[in-house]
Amino acid sequence: MKRLVKPKKKFARPASARKIAEEPKSILITGGAGFVGSNVLRYLWKRYPRSQFHVLDALTYAGDLRNIPDEIHSDPRFHFWYGDVRNAKLVEAIVAQCDIVIHFAAETHVARSIHDDINFFSTDVIGTQVVTSAVLQHKGSVKRFIHTSTSEVYGTARTETMDEMHPLEPQSPYAAAKTGADRLVYSYITTHAIPAVIIRPFNLYGPNQHLEKLIPRFITSALLGESMTIHGSGESRRDFTYVEDLARAIELIIEAPGEKVNGEVFNIANSRATSVLEIADMILKIRPVKTKKKAVFTEYTLNIGDRPGQVFKHIGNTDKIRSVLGWKPRVSFEEGIKKTIAWYEGFIIEAKSSRVRLRRRVQSAG
Ligand SMILES: NC(=O)c1ccc[n+]([C@@H]2O[C@H](COP(=O)([O-])OP(=O)(O)OC[C@H]3O[C@@H](n4cnc5c(N)ncnc54)[C@H](O)[C@@H]3O)[C@@H](O)[C@H]2O)c1
Repeated sequence: MKRLVKPKKKFARPASARKIAEEPKSILITGGAGFVGSNVLRYLWKRYPRSQFHVLDALTYAGDLRNIPDEIHSDPRFHFWYGDVRNAKLVEAIVAQCDIVIHFAAETHVARSIHDDINFFSTDVIGTQVVTSAVLQHKGSVKRFIHTSTSEVYGTARTETMDEMHPLEPQSPYAAAKTGADRLVYSYITTHAIPAVIIRPFNLYGPNQHLEKLIPRFITSALLGESMTIHGSGESRRDFTYVEDLARAIELIIEAPGEKVNGEVFNIANSRATSVLEIADMILKIRPVKTKKKAVFTEYTLNIGDRPGQVFKHIGNTDKIRSVLGWKPRVSFEEGIKKTIAWYEGFIIEAKSSRVRLRRRVQSAG
């Protein structure tokens, strides 16, 4: 009797070999020193070991070169451009060298946008116009342009889950600026047929996120034994995706045939809503620490409700990206929160030891 013999694992092709044919020549990541950009850089760096990588970043308060690991920074395949996405000459010169353009650079904090909206419209809309226009100039060589929009463009949900056809009803200056950028890219798609794809991620979390954002703030408060500050009742519900799942979606978009993705909009979400209070509970369950009080509710609770510009319910419908690209999130919220807590533990240790090093240096200099 013939026996079927399973091929031995050692004959499996390594991940890098799988990609030789489709590996991009050169990838531009704008905003690559920020939270999402740096995580996508790390992910694609491993997936495309022969590609060149260009990061363009103005290193605003939200960008940090330490988000880019030394082994990437010192590699000849990596090129860092310290500059502004609104600098048309510079952007055009970099886009000219790249076949994949991934645009993240933006001002991103909803609360800041309420007091500083000009900066948001300038960077998020004009910056996107500059990048999109450079892609148009190099339409012959750019194979894919991925523009990062956001679920904030939808505003508060009119339906239980929001798909890509949900009306765009931005409620904060940040969301309005991102809606302008989103529709601007769309207009270049319809007018000039540029090979662009618009992604609308719902809330993202993971390593390297700025402490002004909710999950890093809660985690670091818990790790430092401080109370968490909650704006409003804590009942507002959001849909959180671990940033590596987003990076995998981007990889699939890069590798998909043009007819499947060019000109399309894709939601990226976990399709599960978690309230602010549930997040606080989960963090304290994973890392039980003594806090004075679990949470401190700000005056918004009593006086004016939730923070202005906030939307109350956001759950993404991801049927489209699931059916077109076979993408679905792999990291559960609990697993992602565990990984994120572990990363912030290291971050706090590093921050404390560099403060000690700095104090010693100051003392020895004095
Ligand atoms: N973080 C999320 O939950 C989330 C969700 C949906 C969409 N997005 C979108 O993803 C993108 C990245 O978000 P993030 O959370 O990493 O933001 P971030 O604020 O952490 O990083 C933004 C990066 O852009 C850079 N930048 C800002 N202005 C610039 C300019 N004029 N020129 C060049 N670089 C500039 C900053 O220095 C920083 O490195 C944004 O477009 C954002 O709208 C983020």
